Amino acid sequence: MNSIDPAQLLIRKSGIHGCGCYTTDPIKEGSHIVEYTGTRLSKQQADDLYSDRPDTYLFCIGEGEYVVDGDSVAAFINHCCDPNCETDEFDEHIWIIALRDIAAGEELTYDYNLYDGDDDDEALCRCGAKGCRGTMYGEEEIERRVKDAKKTEQAPEKDGKTTPSGPSPLSIIEVGDPVLRQTARELSVQEIRSSAIQSLIEKMRETMHAAPGVGLAAPQIGQPLQLAVVEDREQYHREISEDQLAARERKPVPFQVLINPRVVWQSEDTREFYEGCLSLPGYIARVRRARAVRVECLDEKGNTKLIEAAGWHARILQHEIDHLQGNLYIDRMQTRTFGSLENFNRFWKGKPAAEAVAQRR
Ligand code: CO
Repeated sequence: MNSIDPAQLLIRKSGIHGCGCYTTDPIKEGSHIVEYTGTRLSKQQADDLYSDRPDTYLFCIGEGEYVVDGDSVAAFINHCCDPNCETDEFDEHIWIIALRDIAAGEELTYDYNLYDGDDDDEALCRCGAKGCRGTMYGEEEIERRVKDAKKTEQAPEKDGKTTPSGPSPLSIIEVGDPVLRQTARELSVQEIRSSAIQSLIEKMRETMHAAPGVGLAAPQIGQPLQLAVVEDREQYHREISEDQLAARERKPVPFQVLINPRVVWQSEDTREFYEGCLSLPGYIARVRRARAVRVECLDEKGNTKLIEAAGWHARILQHEIDHLQGNLYIDRMQTRTFGSLENFNRFWKGKPAAEAVAQRR
């Protein structure tokens, strides 16, 4: 058996998730790298111990009657949809084995192929590999979950009411987190149609409504994906004067999903207004943006869509597409107009634009 020196494995921060396991020396294809060791528990013991914890290091043995509660180096190995290792069981011992030659400095990964997860846990994958499934669940589990989700949608409850289907809102990431500054990765049509992404879209819609906001980009909930949702509801306009709505060319916009969006044309004509962002709560500034844009993207079914927008809708689109490129409005703002919402309401609200311009000298 071709094995390696355990001293060549080290744990450090990973681009995939938290910490990962790296090799300092090359590893040959087929090498037995490290055993997945830890306390052995029955399925029931593990369920009792970890019922309320989302992250565990449990590894099922055989048909899943026993699990190993990982407590060594191997438990740090992250999932990847295009892995360089696989796992194999020998006499109830689990080994991590090199699927190919691995170079010095590479992070070790294997495909978790998760199954039997909680229904509200989508086990989203951030591995970034080409052809990433978007989730750490295996193909069979994905199919099972899609079928189950359909059943739940169709089955009315005993008293005749349908099951309430609102997922709870996700927390919104604030400025300073690197996820807001990286270029998000594109989604494939296959990924868009996966249950993981479909459910993510639903959760983003719910989160945008709860905030409330008129747009939300996936990086704002910690997912570096080229995905954003937009909706400007009529009810948001009730507190705003007719004049202000007219000046901003602000009209209701129905719910829209933007995937892999690109601004393919923008007007030379620009407008400057105050805008804010859910990732910088409590602050606003004046931002100059194109008055109209044409955006090419995919919709939630993976179909190509062309959006032509003017006024406030065009501003929302530019703001959300900026998020997907790692840009925030503070990169484009008139810096001397930046301020807290509280002070805006106190000193600047309703004042003519000329006065706001005076903030700039
Ligand atoms: Co924003």
